[in-house]
Amino acid sequence: MLEKIKETASYLQSKMHTSPETAIILGTGLGSLVNEITEKYEIPYEEIPNFPVSTVEGHSGKLIFGKLGQKDIMAMQGRFHYYEGYSMQEVTFPVRVMKELGIQTLFVSNASGGTNPEFEIGDLMIITDHINHFPEHPLRGKNLYGDRFPDMSEAYSKELINQAMEIAAENGINVRQGVYIGTQGPTFETPAEYKMFRILGGDAVGMSTVPEVIVANHARIRVFGISVITDLGVEGKIVEVSHEEVQQAANVAQPKMTTIMRELINRS
Ligand code: HPA
Repeated sequence: MLEKIKETASYLQSKMHTSPETAIILGTGLGSLVNEITEKYEIPYEEIPNFPVSTVEGHSGKLIFGKLGQKDIMAMQGRFHYYEGYSMQEVTFPVRVMKELGIQTLFVSNASGGTNPEFEIGDLMIITDHINHFPEHPLRGKNLYGDRFPDMSEAYSKELINQAMEIAAENGINVRQGVYIGTQGPTFETPAEYKMFRILGGDAVGMSTVPEVIVANHARIRVFGISVITDLGVEGKIVEVSHEEVQQAANVAQPKMTTIMRELINRS
């Protein structure tokens, strides 16, 4: 595995003109941030040795290198979800490669169902912490580097959270903070499951992010995450939910999320 990571990293290094210390996983709600990247250099996933192979033909995504404002960045357009059938090693492989490339800070976004009764559809939630509810741990198995028992006491950088709160206030953007529960999907939750996740301590539940954030912490990469609440898992407010509605709610929140991320990346 370590050999594969190194092989992938050296392939990318042979193609890179920059040495970014910032990586972005362009999840739901951040698609349009791509339009603000300048001096772009793109590499489709299928050209990258050892990168997971897409389950949907023609939708495998790409790595984008370039500048966001003055900052050199690398961005993943398209991530690998556990529910698609990828192993945890595959889901988190790009983050391990990021570490090898010298990435210091990782920015992630996602969509989630709000379990906090104060939340509304379209709200942005800065992720302050997470609960790992995936059936498999991404660090299970031989420890490749770093600590066997990694610390997770500040999985999401407090400094970046504070900066993001300032940016939101400066731009008149209302944001929430809360705990994200990552679970495998692909079903959305039953009302009883939403209730369970609330009792467990979650403010929102989604199907991504937690594996990548665990591996980033293990690699001592600083993390900032933000989630768009696309539906509500709150008793009395639960209605049928579809992927299209999730996308639609995320699109409405997209400009606010893009502003926060762009400014935060520039200042970090
Ligand atoms: N549950 C899980 N994942 C999600 C949800 C949800 O309600 N909304 C968007 N992603």
